Amino acid sequence: MTAEAGRRVASARGAAGFWSRLRAEGAFWQGVVYDALRFRRHAWLHRVRSPESRNARMLADAHFLEYGMALREARPGFGLARSERLAGDLIEGGQHEAAGQIGLATLRDWAAFNRGTTLPDGIAPALALPGGEDIAAGVRQTDGGGAFGDYLAFARSRHSVRQFAPGPVPEAAIRRAVAAAQAAPSSCNRQTCTAHVWTDRALIDRVRRHQAGNRTFGHELGGIAVITSDLRHWEHAGERYQPWIDGGLFAMSLCHGLHAEGLGTCFLNWSVTPATDRGLRAELGLDETQLVIVLLGFGLMPDRVSVCASPRLPEGEALRLNPPLAD
Ligand SMILES: Cc1cc2nc3c(=O)[nH]c(=O)nc-3n(C[C@H](O)[C@H](O)[C@H](O)COP(=O)(O)O)c2cc1C
Repeated sequence: MTAEAGRRVASARGAAGFWSRLRAEGAFWQGVVYDALRFRRHAWLHRVRSPESRNARMLADAHFLEYGMALREARPGFGLARSERLAGDLIEGGQHEAAGQIGLATLRDWAAFNRGTTLPDGIAPALALPGGEDIAAGVRQTDGGGAFGDYLAFARSRHSVRQFAPGPVPEAAIRRAVAAAQAAPSSCNRQTCTAHVWTDRALIDRVRRHQAGNRTFGHELGGIAVITSDLRHWEHAGERYQPWIDGGLFAMSLCHGLHAEGLGTCFLNWSVTPATDRGLRAELGLDETQLVIVLLGFGLMPDRVSVCASPRLPEGEALRLNPPLAD
């Protein structure tokens, strides 16, 4: 077998090839089972069992209510069951959480929208709870926000950077980039993702040693982010891959946010075995509920730097515009 930088380049033949294929199959199914069991254990498939699941449910229910109010055909009287569940979650302690404050503010707006409707009995006690007054919830009007310059040019100006200038990354830049990541869309506005960020040299090195793809340049990084999604925020079988989707959107927004701050970035894959995943989580103190999506290295840009051209395929490879549908 020929391997380079830990990746197999040529397949072995004969008996060695057979055992190598068998090992690859075994590793594949081991990874599938590892992911599936963790989702199964922590998603709230049947009932909410943790404050984190309840937080996600409150955000999802609040989203259902704001969604109904934002429709062109918005009509009072919708969402009675959701509002009752949200009210119950708030009263059972959810009001003290940031998610609960959003839920409460939304519930108030929804109740005002439903002024002429008889609301379920459980709603009134929740509406009497304090908090959430400073949150702009419900619906808002927008004209789309206007033009923000040439996004295509911005997107094309980002490259994976693997050489960095020495010096500390300003904390304000990281905070702004994370705010950009928080602006990413998320399923039912559940906001399941977190960026765990280290900027201390020794800590960066402890994190990055679990990831193979930074070996040649990771010592130059000024920061490293581990992006996770909380499995307790997910609900049903149909969402089993949603953590990676929401995580990808969050991660790309963070990457663009850092790029907008003038920093260099490089994604670092988390295509790893369960053992490696456990190793990183143990180092970071993250339990099983935290699904690692991807890592992102970043740092100060040198004045001039070589980057891979990484040419893109023609547009036709990425776009099928109005293709015919099946008869
Ligand atoms: C999920 C993901 C994981 C990646 N992992 C690595 C990595 O471990 N090491 C690395 O040097 N580059 C990594 N990359 C960077 C890709 O190689 C790079 O994005 C691609 O070649 C396109 O180049 P560009 O980012 O400069 O446009 C990763 C990119 C993505 C999206």
